[in-house]
Amino acid sequence: MKIAVIGTGYVGLVTAVGLAELGQNVIGTDKITEKIDKISSGDVPIYEPGLEELLKANLKKDNLSFSADLNKTIQSSDVIFVCVGTPQRGDGSADMSQMEEVSRMIAENLNSYKLVVEKSTVPVMTSMWIKRTISLYKKNEMAFDVASNPEFLREGSAVSDFLNPDRIIVGIETDKARDIMVEIYKKFKDRIIVTNIDTAELIKHASNSFLALKISYINLISELCDRTNADVEKVAKGMGLDPRIGELFLKAGLGYGGSCFPKDIRALTKIGEDLGVNVNLLKEADKINIDRIKIFVEKIKKALWILKDKKFAILGLSFKPETDDIREAPSIKVIRELLDEGALLRLYDPEAMDNMKEIFPEESPQITYAQSLYEAAEGANALLIVTEWDEFKEMDLQRVKKAMANPIIIDGRNVFELSKIRELGIEY
Ligand code: UGA
Repeated sequence: MKIAVIGTGYVGLVTAVGLAELGQNVIGTDKITEKIDKISSGDVPIYEPGLEELLKANLKKDNLSFSADLNKTIQSSDVIFVCVGTPQRGDGSADMSQMEEVSRMIAENLNSYKLVVEKSTVPVMTSMWIKRTISLYKKNEMAFDVASNPEFLREGSAVSDFLNPDRIIVGIETDKARDIMVEIYKKFKDRIIVTNIDTAELIKHASNSFLALKISYINLISELCDRTNADVEKVAKGMGLDPRIGELFLKAGLGYGGSCFPKDIRALTKIGEDLGVNVNLLKEADKINIDRIKIFVEKIKKALWILKDKKFAILGLSFKPETDDIREAPSIKVIRELLDEGALLRLYDPEAMDNMKEIFPEESPQITYAQSLYEAAEGANALLIVTEWDEFKEMDLQRVKKAMANPIIIDGRNVFELSKIRELGIEY
């Protein structure tokens, strides 16, 4: 069985390498030739722990290769995993133009039976459009099937998530498609859930939106804590010990970012509205998340009154630790708000600074990039923690305090224990 993986972004590259690691014969493809050249030589264009090692190891074996020739790759494959982007459009819906383009290419290169597998996150009923598009543009009577196999990997732990999945969701319409998918994932036989395609598509959007709801819920509770004597960390712990609730994804703070939760909750909202469903619950969760930035900036103002010409160390630029991804990162919104107030910012992140320089260039008058968190703290009127990298959790607080003009830390991720940090004479 020959498998093609179209798209070499975070999901596509991990899928190609992961399937090869499972022993499959895989060709990864992308229309960006430079990306393919880089990956073919064992170079991973993103920061994802463990991925480069696994890519290199599998390139050495004979079952993984990359090609920029999409037509040829489609022709030579039996199964095609589609991992292209489905970004957000202005009205909140998912932009499916890359999906449509790939469907047309598959139709034009349908030289044998092919199973087309949606791996990208797509709105429910997308498979209907893929099937219709392939049928409309194909030039022969060759048979094909569509399947949905949503991916649940998290950036930062993508490799281990792919190789140790909680569940493999397989949405199919025919026995042939089911047999192929079960064969591919035979190593995880006990974790395969077979459903119809609409169900599989919805499981993905429903899961991501539920996790986003959970985060917004604890953030709503954190506002109650701020106005009372309650400690949100302890409330979350007390709630989470109930197995029906669970401890994970109850970390209050600046809210969720990234390329998935903000976009997926809006895409589910849009499709729900189109289908006449009351989706106000999802809308409120999105609104609570957006408001987190305003609430954080209000806290900064409460500590420093006027922000113009004040110096801030900003620690953490990626949307979460262990990634260089800054898509929908809360840091971008915080930085914009502070720039508008006339503040002077010194930014630091272990991996995401190069990406951030594309949005806020080094030449920007109010911005400098530091080489370490201590350099960022030098002379600062306040230090802001925006992403909870381990490096920040382990910082030498005495050294930071000495370096700063005013020992004030405003922590958007609740990294430190309140009582301990206050003992050091830091306003937290
Ligand atoms: C998320 C899902 O967790 C994956 O299962 C899914 O496959 C992926 O989206 C996707 O659809 O591709 P990811 O966006 O990589 O993964 O990151 P998460 O670890 O889920 O974190 C998302 C955001 O929520 C981050 O900004 C994080 O800081 C925030 N978060 C997470 C909180 O604010 N509080 C928490 O308790 C947990």
